[in-house]
Amino acid sequence: MTKFSSIAEKNTIQSAFKKLSGAYGKILIVIDKKKTLLGLITIGDLRRAILAGFNLNDKIKKIYKRNVTYVFEDELNKKKLNKSNFTSNSLGDTTFYVPVIDKNKKVKDILPVEKILNILEANNSINNVYKKKLPKILIVGGAGFIGTVLTSKLLEKNYHVTILDKLIYDNKIIKNNFKNKKNFNFIFGDVCDINTQIKAIKDIDIVVYLAEIVGDPACSAKPEDALKTNYLSVLSFANLCSYLAIEKYIYTSSCSVYGLDKNNDLLNENSNLNPVSHYARIKIMSEKALLTSANNYFKPTILRLGTVFGPSKRMRFDLVVNTMSKFAYFKNKIDVYGGTQLRPNIHVDDVADGIISIIKAKKKDVENEIFNLSNDKLNLKIIEIAKKIKKTFKNANLNIIEASPDNRNYKVNSSKIRNKIGFVANKSIESALKEIKNIFKFKKIKNPDNKKYNNFLSLK
Ligand SMILES: NC(=O)c1ccc[n+]([C@@H]2O[C@H](COP(=O)([O-])OP(=O)(O)OC[C@H]3O[C@@H](n4cnc5c(N)ncnc54)[C@H](O)[C@@H]3O)[C@@H](O)[C@H]2O)c1
Repeated sequence: MTKFSSIAEKNTIQSAFKKLSGAYGKILIVIDKKKTLLGLITIGDLRRAILAGFNLNDKIKKIYKRNVTYVFEDELNKKKLNKSNFTSNSLGDTTFYVPVIDKNKKVKDILPVEKILNILEANNSINNVYKKKLPKILIVGGAGFIGTVLTSKLLEKNYHVTILDKLIYDNKIIKNNFKNKKNFNFIFGDVCDINTQIKAIKDIDIVVYLAEIVGDPACSAKPEDALKTNYLSVLSFANLCSYLAIEKYIYTSSCSVYGLDKNNDLLNENSNLNPVSHYARIKIMSEKALLTSANNYFKPTILRLGTVFGPSKRMRFDLVVNTMSKFAYFKNKIDVYGGTQLRPNIHVDDVADGIISIIKAKKKDVENEIFNLSNDKLNLKIIEIAKKIKKTFKNANLNIIEASPDNRNYKVNSSKIRNKIGFVANKSIESALKEIKNIFKFKKIKNPDNKKYNNFLSLK
């Protein structure tokens, strides 16, 4: 039997806060004098209530959730649910635990949803009664290169998605691609603005934080914006998520944090960090700050992405594979600066799928963890990437320029994410080149030199 904590509905929000700070976990069961189940309340519910204008002396009667999931003890023992309320509709954000009640609705136990599912699955008796409700996702910076791919995939899988973005690069991207989509909501705004943060977080279960001034040249063009967006608002937003006990907070860092590795080792999440750019140094600050602010209610997941390539609704032609493809197709040349530097690479589809597997993963496998997210087969020298591009764009010539403005050199290993949750990135550069070539061939992008496809040119 699981130890659980209960409260009467005449108690105040303040006393519920007090009870929840005890050792019994995140949920209070609301009961009447006969110990009959009335509802549930979580720390997140209490905090949302305060945000909505209730005060500490208000009774929890005004705010607790009444339509909650529960199972009857005898039905669970027989592994066959009939009258139990174990349906998608009864699920809220408190449904990681489900009260088990007797026929008089007296609470006997409280069990994790997964445990109940295991019991029922063992007997093949779920019978469509219970279909796990999908969490509501907020993608901060979701109108960008990775965010638009992720949004499309999540919507296809019927998740509810809200994007918060200030549309730095393309102010029509939402209108042209997501307007009127089912389960989609857009908030135009700046994540550095606290009011916007509060507006965006309401009614959200999981946050994916992608908003950044991305890349070193772009950060140099707007150093103050970079500090605000890439560091200060990552933290203030994390604080808000912690305050509201948001289920998961997924932050995209970068493998650039490894910077310059003179030994050419295969780096993992415990390897030394040696950043060589302002952008990477800020990433490290944000990673550290997120992990140190972790607590019972806030357990972030950090993904260190390799350099991303491939097509997106918000195309970027300032990333190595994409940029080289553009020049190869339109100018018949591939400029290679230096060429011997090693980089880890990953297709944008794999990044989105990797984020979705974190969303779907058991919390205990991903919370407070850092994962490299790259394709282990694609730790490549820049010259090797250029040669792959030449194979697809046969008329292009390689143009080697000795000096390189970028001295990052590192290769990474992404076995941790594979071992923990079974995710493996496997889309090749060749498949992306085919996709990009078709974009050019069928003129899906009219002017690839438009500065909106290049973060630095847009911001300088
Ligand atoms: N693309 C890569 O190769 C790569 C590699 C490693 C890590 N990452 C990380 O992945 C994340 C997403 O990268 P991306 O390639 O999609 O970048 P992107 O520049 O295409 O997208 C960033 C989005 O954030 C939005 N944004 C920026 N500042 C904002 C603010 N203050 N308020 C609201 N919205 C704001 C922009 O309008 C844009 O839509 C970033 O954290 C980046 O550091 C990307």
